[in-house]
Amino acid sequence: MKLLVTGSHGQLGRELQLLLDKEMPGSAIYTDKDELDITDQKAIEDFLTKHDISHIINCAAYTDVERAEDEKLECSALNFTAVKNIAMAADSNGAKVIHISTDYVFDGTSNRPYRESDKVNPISQYGTTKRKGETALIALAPESIIIRTAWLYSPYGRNFVKTMLRLFKSQPEVKVVCDQVGTPTYARDLAKAILKIVNSNQWVPGIYHFTDEGVASWYDFAKSIAKLSGYGDYKITPIPSEEYPQGAARPYYSVLDRSRIKATYGVEIPHWEESLAECLRIMKEEKF
Ligand SMILES: NC(=O)c1ccc[n+]([C@@H]2O[C@H](COP(=O)([O-])OP(=O)(O)OC[C@H]3O[C@@H](n4cnc5c(N)ncnc54)[C@H](OP(=O)(O)O)[C@@H]3O)[C@@H](O)[C@H]2O)c1
Repeated sequence: MKLLVTGSHGQLGRELQLLLDKEMPGSAIYTDKDELDITDQKAIEDFLTKHDISHIINCAAYTDVERAEDEKLECSALNFTAVKNIAMAADSNGAKVIHISTDYVFDGTSNRPYRESDKVNPISQYGTTKRKGETALIALAPESIIIRTAWLYSPYGRNFVKTMLRLFKSQPEVKVVCDQVGTPTYARDLAKAILKIVNSNQWVPGIYHFTDEGVASWYDFAKSIAKLSGYGDYKITPIPSEEYPQGAARPYYSVLDRSRIKATYGVEIPHWEESLAECLRIMKEEKF
Protein backbone atom coordinates (compact mmCIF):
# COMPACT_ATOMS: atom_id res chain seq x y z
CA MET A 1 0.00 0.00 0.00
CA LYS A 2 1.38 3.43 -0.97
CA LEU A 3 -0.63 6.48 0.05
CA LEU A 4 -0.48 9.97 -1.40
CA VAL A 5 -1.67 12.74 0.91
CA THR A 6 -2.28 15.98 -1.02
CA GLY A 7 -2.65 19.36 0.71
CA SER A 8 -0.38 18.03 3.47
CA HIS A 9 0.41 21.48 4.90
CA GLY A 10 -3.24 22.12 5.73
CA GLN A 11 -5.06 21.34 8.98
CA LEU A 12 -6.16 17.83 8.05
CA GLY A 13 -3.04 17.07 6.00
CA ARG A 14 -0.76 17.79 8.95
CA GLU A 15 -2.80 15.67 11.35
CA LEU A 16 -2.80 12.80 8.86
CA GLN A 17 0.95 13.05 8.45
CA LEU A 18 1.49 12.93 12.23
CA LEU A 19 -0.78 9.92 12.53
CA LEU A 20 0.53 7.98 9.51
CA ASP A 21 4.17 8.57 10.46
CA LYS A 22 3.38 7.06 13.87
CA GLU A 23 1.03 4.23 12.90
CA MET A 24 2.22 3.31 9.38
CA PRO A 25 5.72 4.76 8.94
CA GLY A 26 6.97 4.88 5.36
CA SER A 27 3.55 4.16 3.88
CA ALA A 28 2.78 7.64 2.56
CA ILE A 29 4.10 10.48 0.46
CA TYR A 30 2.99 13.95 1.52
CA THR A 31 2.63 16.77 -0.98
CA ASP A 32 1.35 20.32 -1.00
CA LYS A 33 1.14 22.62 -3.99
CA ASP A 34 4.92 23.10 -4.33
CA GLU A 35 5.52 19.35 -4.67
CA LEU A 36 2.34 18.45 -6.54
CA ASP A 37 -0.07 21.08 -7.84
CA ILE A 38 -3.32 19.15 -8.17
CA THR A 39 -4.68 21.63 -10.71
CA ASP A 40 -2.07 20.14 -13.10
CA GLN A 41 -3.59 16.99 -14.62
CA LYS A 42 -0.36 15.68 -16.15
CA ALA A 43 1.60 16.22 -12.95
CA ILE A 44 -0.84 14.00 -11.05
CA GLU A 45 -0.76 11.28 -13.72
CA ASP A 46 3.05 11.26 -13.70
CA PHE A 47 3.23 11.27 -9.90
CA LEU A 48 0.87 8.30 -9.50
CA THR A 49 2.76 6.26 -12.06
CA LYS A 50 6.22 7.14 -10.76
CA HIS A 51 5.41 6.34 -7.12
CA ASP A 52 3.00 3.47 -7.74
CA ILE A 53 0.33 5.10 -5.57
CA SER A 54 -2.48 2.82 -4.37
CA HIS A 55 -4.56 5.40 -2.45
CA ILE A 56 -4.95 9.18 -2.82
CA ILE A 57 -6.19 11.06 0.22
CA ASN A 58 -7.12 14.49 -1.05
CA CYS A 59 -6.84 17.04 1.76
CA ALA A 60 -6.17 19.95 -0.60
CA ALA A 61 -8.96 22.45 -1.19
CA TYR A 62 -9.81 26.11 -1.53
CA THR A 63 -11.22 26.63 1.99
CA ASP A 64 -11.60 30.41 2.38
CA VAL A 65 -15.40 30.62 2.27
CA GLU A 66 -15.48 34.44 2.25
CA ARG A 67 -12.81 35.02 -0.36
CA ALA A 68 -14.31 32.34 -2.60
CA GLU A 69 -17.18 34.70 -3.43
CA ASP A 70 -14.66 37.00 -5.21
CA GLU A 71 -12.12 34.40 -6.36
CA LYS A 72 -14.60 32.16 -8.16
CA LEU A 73 -12.12 30.84 -10.72
CA GLU A 74 -9.41 30.00 -8.18
CA CYS A 75 -11.96 28.31 -5.93
CA SER A 76 -13.41 26.27 -8.79
CA ALA A 77 -9.94 25.29 -10.06
CA LEU A 78 -9.12 23.60 -6.75
CA ASN A 79 -12.48 22.33 -5.53
CA PHE A 80 -13.81 21.15 -8.90
CA THR A 81 -11.21 20.93 -11.71
CA ALA A 82 -8.48 19.49 -9.49
CA VAL A 83 -10.86 16.85 -8.11
CA LYS A 84 -11.74 15.93 -11.70
CA ASN A 85 -8.01 15.63 -12.42
CA ILE A 86 -7.53 13.35 -9.43
CA ALA A 87 -10.51 11.23 -10.46
CA MET A 88 -9.22 10.72 -14.01
CA ALA A 89 -5.66 9.99 -12.89
CA ALA A 90 -6.87 7.57 -10.20
CA ASP A 91 -9.10 5.78 -12.66
CA SER A 92 -6.34 5.31 -15.22
CA ASN A 93 -3.79 4.21 -12.57
CA GLY A 94 -6.08 1.93 -10.56
CA ALA A 95 -5.68 4.05 -7.40
CA LYS A 96 -8.40 4.44 -4.79
CA VAL A 97 -9.49 7.92 -3.67
CA ILE A 98 -10.62 9.31 -0.33
CA HIS A 99 -11.80 12.87 -0.89
CA ILE A 100 -12.95 15.37 1.72
CA SER A 101 -16.07 17.46 1.24
CA THR A 102 -18.22 19.71 3.38
CA ASP A 103 -21.48 20.34 5.24
CA TYR A 104 -21.76 23.50 3.09
CA VAL A 105 -23.22 21.39 0.24
CA PHE A 106 -26.49 21.73 2.21
CA ASP A 107 -28.61 24.86 2.55
CA GLY A 108 -29.19 24.50 6.29
CA THR A 109 -33.00 24.37 6.24
CA SER A 110 -33.25 20.85 7.70
CA ASN A 111 -34.60 20.28 11.20
CA ARG A 112 -32.71 17.02 11.76
CA PRO A 113 -29.09 15.94 11.12
CA TYR A 114 -28.32 15.64 7.40
CA ARG A 115 -27.96 12.14 5.99
CA GLU A 116 -25.73 11.33 3.01
CA SER A 117 -28.80 10.79 0.81
CA ASP A 118 -30.40 14.16 1.62
CA LYS A 119 -30.88 16.71 -1.12
CA VAL A 120 -27.94 19.07 -1.54
CA ASN A 121 -28.43 22.76 -2.25
CA PRO A 122 -25.25 24.78 -1.70
CA ILE A 123 -25.75 28.48 -0.99
CA SER A 124 -22.17 29.74 -1.37
CA GLN A 125 -19.46 29.61 -4.01
CA TYR A 126 -17.39 27.35 -1.76
CA GLY A 127 -20.30 24.92 -1.26
CA THR A 128 -21.17 24.96 -4.95
CA THR A 129 -17.63 24.13 -6.08
CA LYS A 130 -17.25 21.42 -3.43
CA ARG A 131 -20.47 19.82 -4.65
CA LYS A 132 -19.23 19.96 -8.24
CA GLY A 133 -16.07 18.19 -7.06
CA GLU A 134 -18.17 15.45 -5.43
CA THR A 135 -20.22 14.98 -8.61
CA ALA A 136 -17.15 14.81 -10.84
CA LEU A 137 -15.49 12.25 -8.59
CA ILE A 138 -18.56 10.03 -8.45
CA ALA A 139 -18.91 10.17 -12.25
CA LEU A 140 -15.25 9.57 -13.16
CA ALA A 141 -14.03 7.35 -10.30
CA PRO A 142 -17.19 5.77 -8.85
CA GLU A 143 -15.20 3.53 -6.50
CA SER A 144 -14.15 6.59 -4.49
CA ILE A 145 -15.00 7.45 -0.90
CA ILE A 146 -16.14 10.99 -0.09
CA ILE A 147 -16.18 12.15 3.53
CA ARG A 148 -18.15 15.31 4.28
CA THR A 149 -16.98 17.06 7.40
CA ALA A 150 -17.60 20.41 9.11
CA TRP A 151 -16.18 23.16 11.32
CA LEU A 152 -12.62 21.74 11.31
CA TYR A 153 -9.99 23.01 13.70
CA SER A 154 -6.50 21.92 14.78
CA PRO A 155 -3.33 23.50 16.15
CA TYR A 156 -2.34 24.21 12.52
CA GLY A 157 -3.48 26.72 9.90
CA ARG A 158 -6.35 29.17 10.24
CA ASN A 159 -9.45 28.19 12.19
CA PHE A 160 -12.05 29.42 14.69
CA VAL A 161 -10.19 28.14 17.77
CA LYS A 162 -7.03 30.02 16.88
CA THR A 163 -8.99 33.16 15.98
CA MET A 164 -10.81 33.12 19.33
CA LEU A 165 -7.57 32.58 21.30
CA ARG A 166 -6.05 35.56 19.47
CA LEU A 167 -9.09 37.76 20.18
CA PHE A 168 -9.22 36.77 23.87
CA LYS A 169 -5.65 38.08 24.19
CA SER A 170 -6.05 41.23 22.09
CA GLN A 171 -9.49 42.73 22.87
CA PRO A 172 -11.74 43.02 25.93
CA GLU A 173 -14.80 41.29 24.48
CA VAL A 174 -16.08 39.49 21.41
CA LYS A 175 -19.49 39.06 19.76
CA VAL A 176 -20.21 35.65 18.29
CA VAL A 177 -23.06 34.38 16.13
CA CYS A 178 -25.45 32.15 18.10
CA ASP A 179 -28.00 31.11 15.46
CA GLN A 180 -25.78 28.96 13.21
CA VAL A 181 -25.59 25.41 14.49
CA GLY A 182 -23.20 22.59 13.56
CA THR A 183 -20.47 20.45 15.12
CA PRO A 184 -16.90 21.55 15.83
CA THR A 185 -14.58 18.81 14.60
CA TYR A 186 -10.98 18.19 15.60
CA ALA A 187 -9.01 17.41 12.42
CA ARG A 188 -7.14 14.68 14.34
CA ASP A 189 -10.42 12.78 14.86
CA LEU A 190 -11.10 12.91 11.13
CA ALA A 191 -7.54 11.74 10.41
CA LYS A 192 -8.14 8.74 12.70
CA ALA A 193 -11.38 7.90 10.87
CA ILE A 194 -9.56 8.03 7.52
CA LEU A 195 -6.87 5.70 8.83
CA LYS A 196 -9.53 3.29 10.02
CA ILE A 197 -11.01 3.18 6.52
CA VAL A 198 -7.60 2.71 4.88
CA ASN A 199 -6.77 -0.16 7.23
CA SER A 200 -10.17 -1.80 7.00
CA ASN A 201 -10.48 -5.02 5.04
CA GLN A 202 -13.47 -3.62 3.20
CA TRP A 203 -13.77 -0.71 0.78
CA VAL A 204 -17.34 0.57 0.50
CA PRO A 205 -17.50 3.45 -1.99
CA GLY A 206 -19.86 6.39 -1.60
CA ILE A 207 -20.47 9.39 0.61
CA TYR A 208 -19.99 9.41 4.39
CA HIS A 209 -20.58 12.09 6.99
CA PHE A 210 -18.00 12.59 9.71
CA THR A 211 -17.92 15.20 12.45
CA ASP A 212 -17.30 14.94 16.15
CA GLU A 213 -20.37 14.08 18.28
CA GLY A 214 -22.84 16.65 19.56
CA VAL A 215 -24.16 19.99 18.40
CA ALA A 216 -23.12 23.59 19.08
CA SER A 217 -23.58 27.14 17.86
CA TRP A 218 -20.49 29.26 17.12
CA TYR A 219 -21.32 31.04 20.39
CA ASP A 220 -21.32 27.73 22.34
CA PHE A 221 -18.04 26.84 20.66
CA ALA A 222 -16.46 30.19 21.63
CA LYS A 223 -17.67 29.86 25.26
CA SER A 224 -16.08 26.40 25.50
CA ILE A 225 -12.79 27.60 24.02
CA ALA A 226 -12.76 30.37 26.63
CA LYS A 227 -13.66 28.06 29.50
CA LEU A 228 -11.09 25.42 28.54
CA SER A 229 -8.24 27.85 27.90
CA GLY A 230 -8.41 29.82 31.15
CA TYR A 231 -10.58 32.70 29.87
CA GLY A 232 -13.76 31.61 31.68
CA ASP A 233 -14.59 35.20 32.71
CA TYR A 234 -13.99 36.70 29.27
CA LYS A 235 -17.03 38.54 27.88
CA ILE A 236 -18.59 36.79 24.89
CA THR A 237 -21.89 38.21 23.62
CA PRO A 238 -24.27 36.08 21.53
CA ILE A 239 -25.55 37.85 18.39
CA PRO A 240 -27.81 36.85 15.47
CA SER A 241 -26.23 36.39 12.04
CA GLU A 242 -27.76 39.69 10.78
CA GLU A 243 -25.47 41.54 13.17
CA TYR A 244 -22.40 39.91 11.63
CA PRO A 245 -22.87 40.41 7.89
CA GLN A 246 -20.66 38.28 5.68
CA GLY A 247 -20.16 38.04 1.92
CA ALA A 248 -20.91 34.32 1.73
CA ALA A 249 -24.18 32.81 2.94
CA ARG A 250 -23.80 30.09 5.58
CA PRO A 251 -26.28 27.32 6.41
CA TYR A 252 -28.09 27.99 9.69
CA TYR A 253 -28.21 24.29 10.48
CA SER A 254 -25.46 21.98 9.27
CA VAL A 255 -25.39 19.08 11.72
CA LEU A 256 -24.38 15.87 9.93
CA ASP A 257 -25.72 12.40 10.72
CA ARG A 258 -22.70 10.15 11.34
CA SER A 259 -24.54 6.80 11.45
CA ARG A 260 -23.25 5.46 8.13
CA ILE A 261 -19.53 5.78 8.87
CA LYS A 262 -20.05 4.29 12.34
CA ALA A 263 -22.05 1.34 11.02
CA THR A 264 -19.79 0.64 8.02
CA TYR A 265 -16.35 1.17 9.51
CA GLY A 266 -16.92 0.99 13.28
CA VAL A 267 -15.53 4.50 13.68
CA GLU A 268 -15.73 5.69 17.28
CA ILE A 269 -16.42 9.40 17.59
CA PRO A 270 -15.68 11.55 20.64
CA HIS A 271 -17.88 14.45 21.75
CA TRP A 272 -16.69 17.76 20.33
CA GLU A 273 -16.04 19.31 23.74
CA GLU A 274 -13.82 16.40 24.79
CA SER A 275 -11.79 16.75 21.59
CA LEU A 276 -11.57 20.52 21.98
CA ALA A 277 -10.08 20.03 25.46
CA GLU A 278 -7.55 17.59 23.99
CA CYS A 279 -6.56 19.97 21.17
CA LEU A 280 -6.16 22.90 23.59
CA ARG A 281 -4.06 20.73 25.89
CA ILE A 282 -1.73 19.86 23.00
CA MET A 283 -1.55 23.49 21.90
CA LYS A 284 -0.58 24.52 25.43
CA GLU A 285 1.97 21.72 25.92
CA GLU A 286 3.59 22.20 22.54
CA LYS A 287 3.41 26.01 22.81
CA PHE A 288 1.45 26.77 19.64
N1 LIG B 1 -11.75 23.99 7.43
C1 LIG B 1 -13.02 23.64 7.63
O1 LIG B 1 -13.69 24.15 8.54
C2 LIG B 1 -13.67 22.62 6.75
C3 LIG B 1 -15.05 22.37 6.91
C4 LIG B 1 -15.64 21.40 6.10
C5 LIG B 1 -14.89 20.71 5.17
N2 LIG B 1 -13.58 21.00 5.02
C6 LIG B 1 -12.81 20.27 4.00
O2 LIG B 1 -11.81 19.51 4.65
C7 LIG B 1 -10.65 19.40 3.81
C8 LIG B 1 -9.43 19.81 4.60
O3 LIG B 1 -9.61 21.16 5.03
P1 LIG B 1 -8.45 21.95 5.80
O4 LIG B 1 -9.11 22.90 6.71
O5 LIG B 1 -7.43 21.00 6.30
O6 LIG B 1 -7.84 22.80 4.57
P2 LIG B 1 -6.61 23.81 4.59
O7 LIG B 1 -6.04 23.90 5.96
O8 LIG B 1 -7.05 25.06 3.89
O9 LIG B 1 -5.54 23.04 3.70
C9 LIG B 1 -5.64 22.94 2.31
C10 LIG B 1 -4.24 22.74 1.77
O10 LIG B 1 -4.31 22.61 0.34
C11 LIG B 1 -3.20 23.34 -0.20
N3 LIG B 1 -3.35 23.69 -1.60
C12 LIG B 1 -3.80 24.86 -2.14
N4 LIG B 1 -3.72 24.82 -3.48
C13 LIG B 1 -3.20 23.61 -3.81
C14 LIG B 1 -2.86 22.99 -5.04
N5 LIG B 1 -3.06 23.62 -6.22
N6 LIG B 1 -2.32 21.75 -5.02
C15 LIG B 1 -2.10 21.12 -3.86
N7 LIG B 1 -2.40 21.65 -2.64
C16 LIG B 1 -2.94 22.88 -2.62
C17 LIG B 1 -3.19 24.58 0.69
O11 LIG B 1 -1.99 25.32 0.54
P3 LIG B 1 -2.06 26.93 0.81
O12 LIG B 1 -2.54 27.12 2.20
O13 LIG B 1 -0.64 27.35 0.60
O14 LIG B 1 -3.01 27.49 -0.21
C18 LIG B 1 -3.32 23.95 2.06
O15 LIG B 1 -2.08 23.51 2.57
C19 LIG B 1 -10.96 20.26 2.58
O16 LIG B 1 -11.44 19.45 1.56
C20 LIG B 1 -12.07 21.18 3.04
O17 LIG B 1 -12.89 21.60 1.98
C21 LIG B 1 -12.94 21.92 5.79
